[in-house]
Amino acid sequence: MEPKLFSPLELGDLTLPNRIVMAPLTRNRATLEGDAPHALHTTYYTQRASAGLIISEATQISPEGKGYIQTPGIYSDEQVAGWKTVTDSVHAAGGRMFLQLWHVGRISHVSLQPEEQAPVAPSAIAANSQTFISTGFADVSEPRALDTGEVARIVADYRKAAENAKAAGFDGIEVHAANGYLIDQFLRDGTNKRDDAYGGTPEQRSLFLAEVLEAVTQVFPPKQVGVRFSPFSDFNDMADSDPVATFAVAMARAEEAGLGYVHMVEGQMGGPRSIPNGAIDALKANYSGVYMANNAYDRQMAIDAVESGEVDLVAFGSLFIANPDLVERFRKDAPLNAPDPQTFYGGDAAGYTDYPTLEEVT
Ligand code: PHB
Repeated sequence: MEPKLFSPLELGDLTLPNRIVMAPLTRNRATLEGDAPHALHTTYYTQRASAGLIISEATQISPEGKGYIQTPGIYSDEQVAGWKTVTDSVHAAGGRMFLQLWHVGRISHVSLQPEEQAPVAPSAIAANSQTFISTGFADVSEPRALDTGEVARIVADYRKAAENAKAAGFDGIEVHAANGYLIDQFLRDGTNKRDDAYGGTPEQRSLFLAEVLEAVTQVFPPKQVGVRFSPFSDFNDMADSDPVATFAVAMARAEEAGLGYVHMVEGQMGGPRSIPNGAIDALKANYSGVYMANNAYDRQMAIDAVESGEVDLVAFGSLFIANPDLVERFRKDAPLNAPDPQTFYGGDAAGYTDYPTLEEVT
């Protein structure tokens, strides 16, 4: 019998034909002026339409939410139109696609911000981290702390972005609460030193997340909304004094919101799968929905994890960059193309839409 990895899963109104998910992947190929997806994006995502689900690259909800050059947005008419072309084409090819909603918070640079203002964050603590701007790599700028009264404006930006995602034809959205970006900055106590309602205990630090989830689940059915966490990653200079306590509450927020799935970066973003013993089970105890695992899974690990019932969906990043027909290759246990990290970020079709399918190489 075929492994369960290749069997369908219901998610809200959707039936995913398999449990192999294309992970959100920043590729920095949006238009230089308008941060809009274009024809190349349509080709790239359509080539990968056999995924059980495609999650788009991280997409900023507002100009302020931007932290790198040429990442796409979902706030302008041009961006919505560009994404609509992408989703129409993915749907025509038989696929399903969620948009990942992103606000980078402090991981930005004044040159990328409206009127060259400081990026915003829960607290005015600069990250020891770099971003990519028009002149190349640069240290991120020192952020300013958001006023309590400003948080509602950002929640409204998330809601508007969800409405735009709906207008652009997405089947759902994933709220990016991982990898040291704005929501993660609120969640963890290394970056959140606030003394208002949004800082303090894990409950208070997760209030911003809860408000965002409440807003976007008024736009999409909760089961067609996911959230991504990376509790054990220090990427983007993140730290927390008690990740299990912090993210147990974040998981409970996902439960309360009735979300379709939680997407977990198991270990270091783009690095080792180092997780304290028992920590994932402790987190899962707070959430009863679909569990999507990510980080350095290979075919056999994914088959075993889904077969055991520990994992419902597995998201693949670099393997999907290099193998548009990853599902087919996994099904046949066929050889895989190797990803070329030189073309991950920025550039053109090379390393983006020119990886061959099995059919093209045999
Ligand atoms: C990146 O551009 O390096 C990046 C973007 C989004 C992530 C992680 C990394 O979640």
